Amino acid sequence: MNDNTLSSFLESYAGSGTARLHMPAHKGKPVIGCEEYDITEIKGADYLYEGKGLIGESEKRMASLYGTGRTVYSTEGSSICIKAMLGIIRTVSGRLRVLAGRNCHKAFIDGCALLDGEVTWVYPEKRARSVCSSFITPADIEIKLSEEDFDCVYITSPDYLGFMADIKGISAVCRRHGVPLLVDNAHGAYLRFTEPDRHPITLGADMCCDSAHKTLPCLTGTAMLHFSDSCPDTFQEDAKRIMSIFGSTSPSYLMLMSLDRCSLMLADGSLRKRIKETVRRVSLCRERINACGFSTVGDEPMKITVDASASGMTGDALADKLREHGIEPEYSDPLYTVLMPSAMTGEDDFSLIERAFSEIKADKGQVPELPSPKPCEKILSIREAMFAPCEEVPSDKASGRICARTITGCQPAVPIAVSGEMIDTDTIRLLKAYKIKSVFVTVKGENL
Ligand SMILES: Cc1ncc(COP(=O)(O)O)c(C=O)c1O
Repeated sequence: MNDNTLSSFLESYAGSGTARLHMPAHKGKPVIGCEEYDITEIKGADYLYEGKGLIGESEKRMASLYGTGRTVYSTEGSSICIKAMLGIIRTVSGRLRVLAGRNCHKAFIDGCALLDGEVTWVYPEKRARSVCSSFITPADIEIKLSEEDFDCVYITSPDYLGFMADIKGISAVCRRHGVPLLVDNAHGAYLRFTEPDRHPITLGADMCCDSAHKTLPCLTGTAMLHFSDSCPDTFQEDAKRIMSIFGSTSPSYLMLMSLDRCSLMLADGSLRKRIKETVRRVSLCRERINACGFSTVGDEPMKITVDASASGMTGDALADKLREHGIEPEYSDPLYTVLMPSAMTGEDDFSLIERAFSEIKADKGQVPELPSPKPCEKILSIREAMFAPCEEVPSDKASGRICARTITGCQPAVPIAVSGEMIDTDTIRLLKAYKIKSVFVTVKGENL
């Protein structure tokens, strides 16, 4: 193993017996057991938002593995990378007018509020059954870019349910119009290592974020922000500065070590091999689940999403049945149940999943059809509404009021109503379907 890595620095420091007269206060003594590698930015350990030493070297290794122009690490998830991507566009363009898919994560809305972004939502003709998905096509983007000027296009792919957008087609449209393409690839860090390579940067995106912890063997909160080789130099040059605006000045070295280790496992080929094997095993698992009479959906190669409603049960009921078999799913809602295996999932777990599906009998209960997300009337900007005085009202009393705090289910944090939008009867039907009992609306008569 390469001795000049962040991981080897941390191992050697942990074994050195040095008196730790620096933060953090646990001094490397085991409280939960991982403290010896949990240091702060001491001499030799580099600074995350400079990245000129060991962190920078690790980031460069990762960039070469991903074939990017630049890759920077995040110890605060994709959430901070999303805000940074928007901040970079805001800096370069002097404003932030975004064309976006509605199935975005809450971090995108928060970023727009902080940066005073203006969003035009794309509602494709083919309506998704869930707020988590949006079947945006290159043609949808072409129409909007021909009608109006935007500073960037923002797409979430893969989405929480494992549906993937045509990033190659969308990036070609964006390039023709000279508009940068930003992709929330939080669920697709591993896509660079599948066959074929389906990573957004390979497919033509200018910037994308990957949550390492979602699909690679990394600690929760680890993520990467990637820049394509061909994106403007100013995007890459401003990366660390903009990340630092949103981030803590105390990055976690446990997370950085985790990213560094992951880069070494990718570099020596061991993890790439396991990813390819896992993708094949997931495909077989899906076939076996379908052979039991269930219906899997989505095209993301490492996710298993079951459309429980097609078997006459709710996704939540199916998730409960899986729990009875010792399986904890990633997510469920009235329609779907999502399982997220990874390169660390063993054969025992795949067999357990297949046995469970062979034993579970669909209840044939009532499955509610979720109302499709529809365009809402925009009354205030996201920023104006998010920071406005607000009050909590029961969801069924919210019609005609302006949404103050963007409403998302706790998972998957995809908006049902966005700050500044008028809540109407369609929104209320959606709120009911997602069991959201109360919402925050702006206070009537406030002078905004
Ligand atoms: C689609 C999507 N984007 C972004 C995020 C935020 O990622 P992180 O938790 O790494 O900050 C999530 C989190 O679940 C997500 O599902």
